[in-house]
Amino acid sequence: MSNPVTIAPSPSYGGVETPPLKYVLVTGANAGLGFETCAQLAKIPGIAKVILGCRTKAKAEDALQKLVQQTGVPATVFDVLAVDTSSNKSCRDAVAELAWPIQGLVCNAGGIGTTPQAETDSGALCLFAQNIVGHAVLIETLMDQGKLAPGGRVILSVSEQARGIPELGMKPPPILPTTADHLAGLINGTEIKDWNNEAYGSAKAIGALYIGCLARKYSGYYFLSVSPGGTSGTSIFSFLGPCGSCLMCCLKATGQMHDVGTGAQRYIAPLCSKTYPSGQFIASAKGQTGAVANQATLWDVFSTEDAQDSAYEALHRHHHTSASGQRFDQADPSKSHTFDPIGSDDAAFKVQEIRAERTAGTKLQWLISWEGFDESANSWESIENLVGCEQLLSAFRKTRHVTATEDSEKAKKMKTTKAKKTSLIACHNVCDMLYLQKCFLLSAQDMMICVAVDGKH
Ligand SMILES: NC(=O)c1ccc[n+]([C@@H]2O[C@H](COP(=O)([O-])OP(=O)(O)OC[C@H]3O[C@@H](n4cnc5c(N)ncnc54)[C@H](OP(=O)(O)O)[C@@H]3O)[C@@H](O)[C@H]2O)c1
Repeated sequence: MSNPVTIAPSPSYGGVETPPLKYVLVTGANAGLGFETCAQLAKIPGIAKVILGCRTKAKAEDALQKLVQQTGVPATVFDVLAVDTSSNKSCRDAVAELAWPIQGLVCNAGGIGTTPQAETDSGALCLFAQNIVGHAVLIETLMDQGKLAPGGRVILSVSEQARGIPELGMKPPPILPTTADHLAGLINGTEIKDWNNEAYGSAKAIGALYIGCLARKYSGYYFLSVSPGGTSGTSIFSFLGPCGSCLMCCLKATGQMHDVGTGAQRYIAPLCSKTYPSGQFIASAKGQTGAVANQATLWDVFSTEDAQDSAYEALHRHHHTSASGQRFDQADPSKSHTFDPIGSDDAAFKVQEIRAERTAGTKLQWLISWEGFDESANSWESIENLVGCEQLLSAFRKTRHVTATEDSEKAKKMKTTKAKKTSLIACHNVCDMLYLQKCFLLSAQDMMICVAVDGKH
């Protein structure tokens, strides 16, 4: 544990009266930056409770024990909450379980994880769900249920990869055009052409845009997206296996990473003081360490209202999922068609029309317009969300002359694409530590792939 923080809470943000920071929830609290953030927060005078939001309660309880041991702060300063940000239901359940309104929320959970391309119950790929979709549900449910105190402060963890890191050969993510359709396509993977180089940066960029929109929509709260910067001493590269720590050493040695205490302070400083206007995206002015700056000065897309609104809309297309993953029931017209913008578990929706068909990853999806809602609510749905719509689907497919042969052609095409991707990764399977260093100069993302496939280092 390093650098105990002594930042004094500030009374107001940009004209919004800010309550004293008393109860703070941190997601992803059991490891890396989240754990360190909790350790630092617990020592700030005035903070009564640091709530450890973790994937499971067991993980949170384990983190609590470790925090007490490492900080010497009494166990009563901490509390535990199960919140799995890859599940909308878990995020809503967590809000229901929260005993007190909180004044501060650090949406830190995320990273790449072990199953980044798995599809979640909201239709978002897991990487996007755990970094941004779940957090959006968490933030809005907290506000909706009065559990984020008026004037409350929200920090969303993003990354310099959201604007590209030329120093590491990383291009900006493909968020242009910033239409809701395109951004939603990134979230469900259909618009991603190069997974290793595009997905993580896209997730973080959409998160930063979304925060900009929230700041305009809800002026009674304070929102900021913050990159902790390249941070060592975390498990961010654990998906690379034992080679992840080699990569971390390499990045630290070349000045591309600071320690976890410094990374955590990037969240805590704006949480505790009136540092930046609400809605900004704060990250390194250059590279991924050192002084920070408003990223809209580097890429003006982050201050573009249309782009921010598109990100909000794209994320909302993934909010409307029921506990079972089922979204509506065409067969039961007696069900209410109430549209809950946060995505209530009980909401039922009725299909008005099927508009189009596409392939998303290995699945077919259909573009649905919903009875009683305008076109902005249209969404792409997989078969499991279309229970009771078999006749409608078959009629739609007949009018489009989709035949069994066409379906098997599609299946073949998907298999070939998968095989191509695998061989691309296998091509990198030649690296040793020297080659890794050489790759590093070319592209840090490529280097990660090298490390990933070369298990012997
Ligand atoms: N380290 C860096 O260089 C860096 C740079 C820029 C941004 N960031 C961001 O900083 C945040 C923290 O990363 P880190 O470096 O501290 O990585 P880390 O050590 O791997 O910690 C990630 C934390 O997030 C949790 N998490 C992941 N998916 C979750 C889910 N679906 N539900 C609940 N918790 C989940 C993990 O819990 P489990 O242990 O249960 O998986 C873990 O506690 C991430 O959002 C990351 O993208 C990191």
